Amino acid sequence: MQLHFVVIAEGGRNSALRIFRGGFAKTVFSNDQNAAGGSELDGGAKTCNTSAYDDVISANTLERDGDTHMVQRDHMPTFEVQTAQTAYPTAVERGILQRVSEFVPLKAGKLFIVTTEDVWALHGSAIRPQLDANRVTTLFFPGGEVNKRLARVEELADQMLAGGGDRTSVVIGFGGGIVTDVAGFLAAVFMRGVPVLQIPTTLLAQVDAAVGGKTGVNLAGGKNLVGSFHQPAAVLIDPEVLATLPEREYRAGLYEVIKCAIIRDRALFEMLETQADGVLALDADLVDRFISAAVRIKSEVVSADEREGDLRRILNFGHTVGHAMEAETEYVRFLHGEAVGWGMLIATRLAELAATLTSAEAARIQRLIRRYGPLPSAANLDPDHLVARLASDKKTLQGKVHFVLPTAIGAVRVLSGIDPALVRRAIAETLR
Ligand SMILES: NC(=O)c1ccc[n+]([C@@H]2O[C@H](COP(=O)([O-])OP(=O)(O)OC[C@H]3O[C@@H](n4cnc5c(N)ncnc54)[C@H](O)[C@@H]3O)[C@@H](O)[C@H]2O)c1
Ligand SMILES: [Zn+2]
Repeated sequence: MQLHFVVIAEGGRNSALRIFRGGFAKTVFSNDQNAAGGSELDGGAKTCNTSAYDDVISANTLERDGDTHMVQRDHMPTFEVQTAQTAYPTAVERGILQRVSEFVPLKAGKLFIVTTEDVWALHGSAIRPQLDANRVTTLFFPGGEVNKRLARVEELADQMLAGGGDRTSVVIGFGGGIVTDVAGFLAAVFMRGVPVLQIPTTLLAQVDAAVGGKTGVNLAGGKNLVGSFHQPAAVLIDPEVLATLPEREYRAGLYEVIKCAIIRDRALFEMLETQADGVLALDADLVDRFISAAVRIKSEVVSADEREGDLRRILNFGHTVGHAMEAETEYVRFLHGEAVGWGMLIATRLAELAATLTSAEAARIQRLIRRYGPLPSAANLDPDHLVARLASDKKTLQGKVHFVLPTAIGAVRVLSGIDPALVRRAIAETLR
């Protein structure tokens, strides 16, 4: 596999996006076709300097000093997220769970592993022997959206303090997206901020939640309404852990991978199209390739736009209606990825109705999404209720609903001010 580095040159968020590629033997995906996402964006997007995609440097220059180690391997890729304040590696590597200690910041004091009982029972034994037992405390979090609340963060912070936590402590988030969101937020607020090492164990958390620095918890009034941007010290992705993931959770994560393909990577789309059987059967080579592709895309987008300006917004493809469907069914009928699956079907139909996408490409996108189904039924949802919910979504700015609509497979635009009647029609036609 190739080694990909995504680096923003000096100057922070508005500077050119540069991708450094080392030349390893096995091909993952070429970056060339991914240049489209930035340039396709509507009005005033932070620019990706697509010509910089050609930059290639020797992989030997990629080692870093300082608080985080970055050990370079020639068989699996590492991506670097660089924001105005920080830079960190996101490594995709089978067996990296056995190397967690190499990524603990050098000056770390006590280590607090935030995890759930199930994940710890299944995979804790890979991590435990590497870390000095006197330095490590395992904090169990009950898991589930209902527990992703401030009160639980306070309990965890109390436990950190009782366990000798101080400003030198490091939090390790080891679990699905709920755990990485909670652990990240805990790290963001404990003693006004300590480092967090993220080790995501669901596909959704590996390709999405753990990369990008968004952390937070739910309020009674809605999901993720209290939180902070807190970039991790490193993200360690071990595809091996997916072997124990329930099949439904795996497919839910695949919808976020499909999302990445539709917004920015036609080659990934084609792979998901032609190799669906292998992807669904957890073929190791395919899994490594699509996780790497999705992580690269997330790293690129976050590096260019940490705080959800126009570029980061493309990651919300399928989420506008998806969030409304999750809320409408009180977060119990759909897993997040499944709601995104429905949301992408609807956004694709809307793109066809709004004439940003040809019917042929729309049909191809819809076929791919359905290939990874079945999605839980949404037939009894009222399109009018969903349209009404769109206006109250957290991402709605000053009453304007933004839609991320494909313009081709691998490219999207962000549009606002779409006629609600058209949105209603896309919802009604897709859900019936
Ligand atoms: N911060 C972000 O940018 C971001 C992005 C997307 C989603 N999220 C958040 O992620 C959360 C959803 O995450 P999720 O889908 O990972 O759900 P989850 O964290 O609830 O994990 C799903 C289930 O799988 C179990 N599990 C985890 N790893 C396992 C493994 N390897 N084997 C067996 N079981 C395992 C978990 O204990 C849990 O029961 C939501 O709260 C969402 O808001 C955050
Ligand atoms: Zn999502």
